[in-house]
Formats: sequence, structure tokens, C-alpha cells
Amino acid sequence: MAKSNKKTGKSKGESTLSAVLDRILTLEIVRVTERAAVAAARQRGRGDEKAADQAAVDAMRRELNRLPIDGTVVIGEGERDEAPMLYIGEEVGTKEGPKVDIALDPLEGTTICAKDLPNSLAVIAIAEGGSLLNAPDVYMDKIAIGPGYPAGLVKLDATPAQNIKALAKAKGVPVAEITACVLDRPRHASIIEDIRAIGCGIRLIGDGDIAGVIHTTDPQETGIDIYIGIGGAPEGVLAAAALRCIGGQMEGRLILDTDEKRKRAKKMGIDDFERVYQMEEMARGDVLFAATGVTDGNLLSGVRFAGKTITTETVVMRSLTQTVRWIKAEHRMLSKFK
Ligand code: FBP
Repeated sequence: MAKSNKKTGKSKGESTLSAVLDRILTLEIVRVTERAAVAAARQRGRGDEKAADQAAVDAMRRELNRLPIDGTVVIGEGERDEAPMLYIGEEVGTKEGPKVDIALDPLEGTTICAKDLPNSLAVIAIAEGGSLLNAPDVYMDKIAIGPGYPAGLVKLDATPAQNIKALAKAKGVPVAEITACVLDRPRHASIIEDIRAIGCGIRLIGDGDIAGVIHTTDPQETGIDIYIGIGGAPEGVLAAAALRCIGGQMEGRLILDTDEKRKRAKKMGIDDFERVYQMEEMARGDVLFAATGVTDGNLLSGVRFAGKTITTETVVMRSLTQTVRWIKAEHRMLSKFK
């Protein structure tokens, strides 16, 4: 039996970062994404991306600053000089707890929220200090699949067609039964052509590639087997954090195609501009991840306002234990959501 401190009654070791992450932060971070999601959802469908994003940022920052952590935002709302709040390097929390890295996106899918389309989310990942890739706000080439496949099955250095054929073989289905998720962008024209040429279907999404990556973890529910293409690097790190917890494989390569971007990357400690990052290199150690639905999506319902009750749906997970909790919350103290 663990020795306990007579004064506090705490078991020896209970104050370690791991215990704090598990016992306290798991539920605390749910509150953070819930508040951001509710604030954004009040702006849902109103055609104003900026207002929705600002509301989510304000709410998330307020809640983060109540957490018993000594946190540094490593993936945030932009780089210091261009984003007034929750910028990369901003310190958050009460400073009374463990040192942690925070990756966040208070409103992932600002346009989809403004248009009330599926899969916008409030998202956060928390890990031990130094565990999350400090990525500049540039694009990242990404590929991801869910759990249950041999390691290294899909690779950024292979073509989309080769990756999909390998996945179909491992899944034991014809290529025609695989669905790839790709952001609907002109830059993806050749990927789309390559994938369709082998008879594989594509779910083209307008925005929201964190959801796109997470959807690969439950093809039965979402209909998506593989995510391929170029999206934001911050979203890539957040998606890697989620996959670390649920299981799956992901690779990412920063697109550092100008001197200016390479300079920014260097400032963040990145020297190898061509490096392919594995999921475990983007989110190392013990990671917590939470996402609350803002608009309805394949895995999470969006926020519901019904008179005196607000309902939210959140998934919160932890890499160390691979526990995935689905939390449907009914909030009645509405003053907390002002
Ligand atoms: P925002 O939430 O910042 O609007 O990002 C939405 C998004 O679709 C991300 O999911 C994706 O990674 C990125 O934008 C793609 O960037 P772009 O719209 O420039 O292609």
C-alpha cells in the first residue's frame, strides 16, 4: 500500500504530473472545450467567422486561466505578433500546477461554424512540457489511418494510390470499399485524380481536417478510412495528439517553401525542413486531448440550446491509458456561459 502524507492524506507520488493529468485535468479540460464550444455555437450560422472565433478564444482563455497548471501555448491562435490572445508562447493557468504544453484550437472550422455545416469543434491537447511539436503556423502534408493496421502501412513518401491499395489489402476489402477524406482545395487536384483513378471514393470536406483525421479511427461510424492531403500544421499536431490517444497512424511534413517560413521554423527549433514527423514525434509522452462539438458532426453532436438547458457533447482521452470518455453534459447554471 502507498504511504500517505498525514497532513494531506495524499498517497506518495499522487502529486506527480501523471496523477494530476489523470485525476484533475481530464475533467477540467472538458470544461475548457465546453465553454469555448458554447460561446462559438451562439454565433453558429450567422456568417461571421471572426465573431465566432473571437467568442471561442475568449471563453477558452478564461477557463484555461482557472486551471491548476503552469501552461505554455505551443500551438495556438497564431504567432505572437499577429494574434492578441492564446498566441504561441502565451502562458496560461494559475501557475500552481505542473508545467505543461498546450495545443489548442478554440474553434476548428470557423467557416463551417459560420455556415452551420458539420464538424466544427473546440479542441485542446495538454502534455508534459516539451512534448508537443512547436510548429509554426504553416501548412502540413498529412496522412492518417485508424488503429489495427501494421506499423508503417501508409507513408507520405508513397503515392495516394499506393497508400490506398496497401490499406485496402490490409483491411481485406477491394479498393472500391475504401473512402478517403480530402480537403476540397485546388492544391489537391492531382491527389484527387490519383485516388479516383483507382476506383476509390473521396469524401471532400470544405474545412475541418482535425475531424477528418479523427474520423479515420471509426470507419464503421464515419465512413472514412484514410485522411490524405495538406492542411494547417497546428491542426496536424492536434490531430496527432488525438490519434496518440485513440490509436492510429499519422505522418506529417511541414511545408516550408519560402525563406520566411524556414526562418520562422528555425526560430522554433526546427532545422530539418524536409523531415517527416511520425505521430509520436508530434505528440510525445502522456497526452490528454478533448474536443467538444460546436456544430453537429459524425462523432459529436453540436451544442443544443433549449430554454434553461445547454447540452454539449465532448470526447476526452488520454494516451497513457488509452481511455476514451464520451461526455454528454446538461448545463443548467447558464450564468457560467455568459
Ligand atoms: P480554421 O478553423 O482556422 O478556419 O481552419 C479550418 C481548416 O479547414 C483546417 O481544418 C485546415 O487544417 C485548414 O483550415 C486548411 O487551410 P486552408 O483553408 O488555407 O486550406
